[in-house]
Amino acid sequence: MKPNIEAFFDGATWTVSYVVFDEPNGYCAIIDPVLDYDPKSGRTRTASANKLIAFIEEKNLTTEWILETHAHADHLTAAHFLKGRLGGKTAIGKEIPIVQETFRKIFNFETDFTPDGKQFDHLFADNEVFSVGKLNVKALSTPGHTPADLSYQVEEAIFVGDTLFMPDIGTARADFPGGNARRLFRSIRKILDYPANTRLFMCHDYPPQGRTPRWETSVGEQRANNVHVRDGIDEDQFVAMREARDRTLEMPTLLLPSIQVNVRAGLMPSPENNGISYLKIPLNVI
Ligand SMILES: [Fe+2]
Repeated sequence: MKPNIEAFFDGATWTVSYVVFDEPNGYCAIIDPVLDYDPKSGRTRTASANKLIAFIEEKNLTTEWILETHAHADHLTAAHFLKGRLGGKTAIGKEIPIVQETFRKIFNFETDFTPDGKQFDHLFADNEVFSVGKLNVKALSTPGHTPADLSYQVEEAIFVGDTLFMPDIGTARADFPGGNARRLFRSIRKILDYPANTRLFMCHDYPPQGRTPRWETSVGEQRANNVHVRDGIDEDQFVAMREARDRTLEMPTLLLPSIQVNVRAGLMPSPENNGISYLKIPLNVI
């Protein structure tokens, strides 16, 4: 069965969110939804998430899953907001407690925050299978960018999260806490072992000047053209390139707000005794 796929590109964070749906039977999953956040004012907005809601309501779909490929560092997730509006189970990879524990310490989270993944409704193990309507889905563990990255294979399409980018851009960075370029290479090769016509959907695009954003490619196209991992580039070459390049990259603008919210599945920290929620900035740590 062929999945229906609708992409939503967020120009503010260069993120692609997806609604994957079984149209005849009326079921969908949301992948990597964005909660808009203005760091200057500390204000969240739901314009991006509302576009997903409008699409899902127009198609009259029941939301079964709200899937994260990983705890993102460049945008806040709208998973919690969307669950409240549409229902569905939130989910992420089984290794998320590693990421939660790292950032629990850095942000000195409240004592009732438990780094056990319970903030999500479900944690997927590698190769775990589930369904969206009659679509068959498999969670693929693809760590490296973070220790808990998943990709989701929906029939002949794979949503690769932050592993690969479009062929002219290359691959995701591997220098966040717990990231590892060698693991990232192995995860990418696992994806590139699929048949050449496998459709691949990116979580981001950072188009060079003159090119419009794109998010769909294929295993064949990546193996032929990816500037970082095309066939012929071996693990050691990749690791040397990735680590050198990562040393030159700035931290993402929304790293600090994003990670505090995303390891809580999109729930904001509890309000303080004046009724206001706060995000923290650890000084001289990251
Ligand atoms: Fe990411």
